[in-house]
Amino acid sequence: MNTVQSISNLRQIRNDLPSPVGLVPTMGYLHEGHLSLVQRARQECANVIVSIFVNPTQFGPHEDLDAYPRDIPRDFALLEKYGVDLVWVPELEQMYTPDFQTWVTVERAAQPLEGKMRPGHFRGVTTVVAKLFNSVLPDKAYFGQKDAQQVVVIRRMVKDLNFPIDIVVCPIIREPDGLAMSSRNGYLDHEERQAAQVLFRSLSAAMSAFENGNNDAGQLREIMTGTIMSEPLADLQYVSCADPDTLEELSGSISRALLSMAVVIGKTRLIDNFLIGD
Ligand code: PAJ
Repeated sequence: MNTVQSISNLRQIRNDLPSPVGLVPTMGYLHEGHLSLVQRARQECANVIVSIFVNPTQFGPHEDLDAYPRDIPRDFALLEKYGVDLVWVPELEQMYTPDFQTWVTVERAAQPLEGKMRPGHFRGVTTVVAKLFNSVLPDKAYFGQKDAQQVVVIRRMVKDLNFPIDIVVCPIIREPDGLAMSSRNGYLDHEERQAAQVLFRSLSAAMSAFENGNNDAGQLREIMTGTIMSEPLADLQYVSCADPDTLEELSGSISRALLSMAVVIGKTRLIDNFLIGD
């Protein structure tokens, strides 16, 4: 497994790699969710490149950039074991020069939900992902359904800016009790970790209501809200029942939807979602 830092070294090695080349962008501190993307890329691509970069521009001023967990030696060992060809750990100074002033912004799709709660977050995500794409020039790039809005926003960017890259979306990997795996789960203490089950419980309650014939968007939101409110440690930021492609909030009867939510437990912000219908 090769490891590189500078963009020029990355390009040199990348140029000699046979296609298809798959890129898995990450912020490191890898868990089974990330590794499922790597495995999928390994199955589909001749060469797999993983980037590890805790991208400062997607964190808000009061978010956990400094506390964000990092363990590069452990990440390298895991990626080696999963048969990755090249790991790129970009240098902060090369990604964001002191006079950096060019941004990639997706408009409508980045506005609701996470975009509303975390102003500037998606501008940071799309800008860094565009930079990763321009540097690696992958044939395919792998993202997790865990960050459902991120997928919608990146797909939009790829279409609108004509990136010749296939976006592959992989299912959410969960803990045995249903909690979606996340680098941030490690922030939860024992009691909070128990309380965190409420996200999966509330999504499951809405999905079984839907499967039993309740297809009213408003009622599905109420079921999710009610379940979250029943957990004293959970502080609900939003629940949504939206069009999976545009993220517009739905009303009345629906045939398919993205159910999603953000919940703060203690000091930890958790997100989760289910796709229902069709
Ligand atoms: P990060 O949070 O490190 O996640 C990297 C990739 O792993 C994302 O595509 C995310 O959706 C996926 N992922 C995380 N948890 C998952 C789970 N439980 N199941 C399946 N996939 C999961 O997302 C980012 O980094 C950044 O925003 C990035 C795209 C790298 C840009 O900085």
